[in-house]
Amino acid sequence: MFEYVSDVSMLSQHIIKNFTKNKNVAIDGTLGNGYDTDFLSENFNKVYSFDIQKIAVDNYKKRNNNKVELINDSHSKLEKYIKENVDAIMYNLGFLPGGDKSITTMVESTIKSIESGLELLNSGGIVSIAIYVGHDEGKKEEMAIMKYVKNLDKKLYGVMLHEVLNRSESAPKLLIIEKK
Ligand SMILES: C[S@@+](CC[C@H](N)C(=O)[O-])C[C@H]1O[C@@H](n2cnc3c(N)ncnc32)[C@H](O)[C@@H]1O
Repeated sequence: MFEYVSDVSMLSQHIIKNFTKNKNVAIDGTLGNGYDTDFLSENFNKVYSFDIQKIAVDNYKKRNNNKVELINDSHSKLEKYIKENVDAIMYNLGFLPGGDKSITTMVESTIKSIESGLELLNSGGIVSIAIYVGHDEGKKEEMAIMKYVKNLDKKLYGVMLHEVLNRSESAPKLLIIEKK
């Protein structure tokens, strides 16, 4: 078992926990089974969690977590639901493990969400994006996200990619965007 080169979810949580300047408001862009939402609610005062699948939202509702506002809609509509600035945003792209693989995050809505998220992000805030390149839509997302982040203003944003180089080429990648 590796300590650092472990799974991208653990790594993204570690980075958010240790490097986000303030811990007031966070967004989970992809609620799924709720692991990242649980993590965010343990570390931030308020969490907005999005999922287009009602089942994901209904399952999380049972946890009665009063720090979490659940939104059964696309993360592409962040600005419709969130009227305050945020300190961290997590995306765990792709499909719900154990769920319907045909319901997956899609290039256009993902890019729109990242774009709106960066507008809401406070100085010192971090966006983490776990990208799963082992399926077709994931590969498209990777290409579009890389193109998008490479053009972000370097005076305002630091962008770093974590990629495993000695395993399968389809191993997930972790992208971190930090706002100065
Ligand atoms: C890889 S799973 C997320 C795993 C989750 N972070 C966890 O801790 O279990 C991806 C989730 O994104 C959701 N999703 C797909 N497109 C979405 C969109 N446009 N807006 C919000 N959620 C979306 C899927 O329904 C799925 O539940």
